[in-house]
Amino acid sequence: MTKKAIGVFDSGLGGLTILKALRQTLPHENLIYFGDSANVPYGSKSKQTVTRFSLDIARFLEGQGIKMLVIACNTASALALPELRKRCGVPVLGVIEPGAQKAARVTRSGRVAVLGTEATVKSNAYPKALLKQNPHLHIVQQACPLFVPLVEENWAKTPAARLIAQTYLAPVKQSKADTVILGCTHYPVLKEVIAGVLGPRVQLVDSAQSLAEAAQSFLQQHGQAETSGRGKLTVYASDDPARFKRLAAYLLADKIGTVHLKKLNA
Ligand code: DGL
Repeated sequence: MTKKAIGVFDSGLGGLTILKALRQTLPHENLIYFGDSANVPYGSKSKQTVTRFSLDIARFLEGQGIKMLVIACNTASALALPELRKRCGVPVLGVIEPGAQKAARVTRSGRVAVLGTEATVKSNAYPKALLKQNPHLHIVQQACPLFVPLVEENWAKTPAARLIAQTYLAPVKQSKADTVILGCTHYPVLKEVIAGVLGPRVQLVDSAQSLAEAAQSFLQQHGQAETSGRGKLTVYASDDPARFKRLAAYLLADKIGTVHLKKLNA
């Protein structure tokens, strides 16, 4: 019998940071990744539009016979998770909850900052999830829209990246947060710059590993985890698969094989 895959999607490349954690934590699982490169960025779009794109992708992935859907995008998790859970026939996992749970667990001062896209910040999804864990937390949010193009242009290590990070992170420093959630899939690529600006006492929470562990325990609890054989990866992009593959190579230094073109009707 062929293994059923886990479907994973993002607005584009950023979700590959989450795919990497899934591959390491669940090496026996088949994974199908969909990067919506035709519609990226989601971070500056409305809830209605992001939900429409997400539902189209979910429909395509469900058509591939997946057993679970992972939203490897903070913006889509923040805006479209309830609708996807309502409409999908498979369990749906988002990144917000695992990230919020981890941040609430590791903060010592109870002061947490959230970095994300404009849409994620506006949705208040992280503060809601954090306060559910601990109603006494003090939370600040900061949208960092220039971080995504910086990463996609491979500028993460330039002085420009440091200058932009210093500007965005000034209010975060002022808030005295001891824990900062990297609430956007691209931000882990800027981890060094962000840590350099915030200093060694601030803990950065990258939800990729927490999400992978949540997926693993869900599959184990439901007797759906694969325990042998090497998992297969299939990658789709909704536009320019060659560019997608090129950027993926330097962003992740991880081999993703052939990228197939799959246009959606969104
Ligand atoms: N993947 C998106 C997120 O995690 C960032 C890129 C975008 O704006 O589409 O929010």
